[in-house]
Amino acid sequence: MPTFAIGEQDFLLDGEPHRILSGALHYFRVHPDMWADRIRKARQLGLNTIETYVAWNAHAPERGVFDTTGQRDLGRFLDLVEAEGMHAIVRPGPYICAEWDNGGLPAWLMRIPGVGVRRNEPQYMAAVTEYLQQVLAIVTPRQITRGGPVVAVQIENEYGAYGDDKDYLRELVRVNRDAGVEVPLLTCDQAEAEMQERGSLPELHRTVTFGSRTAEKLAVLRAAQPTGPLMCMEFWNGWFDHWGAHHHVTDAAASAGDLDALLAVGGSVNLYMFHGGTNMGFTNGANDKGVYQPLVTSYDYDAPLAEDGTATAKYDAFREVISRYAPVPAESAPHRTPAPELTIEGGRRTVGLLDVVATLGEGSSWDEVPTHEDVAVASGFVRYRTAVAHIEPSVLAFDEVRDRAQVFLDGVAVGVIDRSERARSLTLPAAPHGATLEILLEDQGRVNYGTRIGEAKGLIGPATLAGKPLLGWDVLPVDVDALAVESTFAGECEAAGPIAGPSLSRWTSDLPAGRDLFLDVSGWGKGMVWVNGVNLGRYWSKGPTATMYVPGQIVTGQADSIVLLELLGAPDAAVRFVAAPQLGHTDF
Ligand code: GLA
Repeated sequence: MPTFAIGEQDFLLDGEPHRILSGALHYFRVHPDMWADRIRKARQLGLNTIETYVAWNAHAPERGVFDTTGQRDLGRFLDLVEAEGMHAIVRPGPYICAEWDNGGLPAWLMRIPGVGVRRNEPQYMAAVTEYLQQVLAIVTPRQITRGGPVVAVQIENEYGAYGDDKDYLRELVRVNRDAGVEVPLLTCDQAEAEMQERGSLPELHRTVTFGSRTAEKLAVLRAAQPTGPLMCMEFWNGWFDHWGAHHHVTDAAASAGDLDALLAVGGSVNLYMFHGGTNMGFTNGANDKGVYQPLVTSYDYDAPLAEDGTATAKYDAFREVISRYAPVPAESAPHRTPAPELTIEGGRRTVGLLDVVATLGEGSSWDEVPTHEDVAVASGFVRYRTAVAHIEPSVLAFDEVRDRAQVFLDGVAVGVIDRSERARSLTLPAAPHGATLEILLEDQGRVNYGTRIGEAKGLIGPATLAGKPLLGWDVLPVDVDALAVESTFAGECEAAGPIAGPSLSRWTSDLPAGRDLFLDVSGWGKGMVWVNGVNLGRYWSKGPTATMYVPGQIVTGQADSIVLLELLGAPDAAVRFVAAPQLGHTDF
């Protein structure tokens, strides 16, 4: 059987020096019917390896569940990598960062009283062990030592930026080895001496993460680890976007120059990302380094292979650089051609969201406002409701709002409390005794980096009105995926003109079967979109993204359904598909 090892200066494949030319591709961000296509395009770039994280929360919506169907079929993904003649690196976390909801840690984990994440805490380690055993049962039979594609596994992720619990790292090593991992175990950390020290162990091979200033960053790695192959585990050739900020791009020539500098000194690389994909549904993460900043739906990342799987100028520039160091296949990936443009004007059916939530059943009663964790909601929306005594204009306040509260008094919208503005209060207008206060609360994505990972979502009490405790809440999880179905629109609900929110609207149309489409969301406010029942994720007028990618694999050509959850109000009620993505304004 082949071997893969860490040598004095190089990775050793069957004892021979080997350079890893890898590209990051997250199976959980790409439609499974497109995995083979994206992997092939990585090989056509000249890469020999595919790297993927494993998102624990994508597989384990509840403890004890480990879903490997459809888009979660890691084994099939690795088999496709092998079929393309490539190697694989697997990074199962348990924490992955990755701009992914909660950095991959399941929301249910946070409901265990006293749980301590990312350290050697027994309850956390018990859950992590269960998880790793399930993932590694898929990975270990596919190691290169057993005839498969997997050449390395990473422990944790940039742990040195978070903690220094070496016992935790040792436990992770033990669990991985006990589960049968024979290939090298790696760590990755940013290019800072202290992070490199904290994030690894002598028995692990260190790698580094950076996107520029190659020589300087490699020197930090070399100082931390005098021998062994130099690898940039995340060569940041693009970057992610937050709502309300600009779209990040990196110059293709400059990025190619930094890649060249890495390859010129014999370094190994994992392009982060080779192909980013999409944060569909509620999967996006967020940052909070003082201000809460949720991440956008597109994870295009300005990567060499764009969100729709087309080659970019960066792809061509990287291919040229790689060709100086390694054989590159003759055939390259195609560039984008215009997508079909079409508009759906009529045939809309619209229902009020707060009217149809009643079909979801009864809420539960709480004295104090509960968090989403208290009502076992992992992501998305919750409706909080209470009655108020007669009030003059009064301040409604919470300790914190995570993350966005739309407030209604007797069904009339009275405002929004938005965490990204650090808001936690709102003035209610005068209301008669017994008026109904309703709050539609949106979790906009769990923080995926830093000390706020794992925090609770929802309304964080105490709730007060005019400075006095506001008690007696009826709380209903609002599963919008369950509402975005045809039966929700069964009554008399034909509609035309601008779309008032919060509401759900539905259209059907024969879209061009199998064609990738770009849905123009620039005329809408804030919400989510489903095409043929697939939740494509969130849109928001504050941008920067103004289109949503619709993978051709979900477009049937026969009465395709489009469902819109509009929370605010859409002046333009037409559904428009445009020729190319609009990922938004850049900062230059
Ligand atoms: C770090 C993390 C990745 C990702 C990148 C930024 O390097 O390890 O998971 O979050 O930052 O895209």
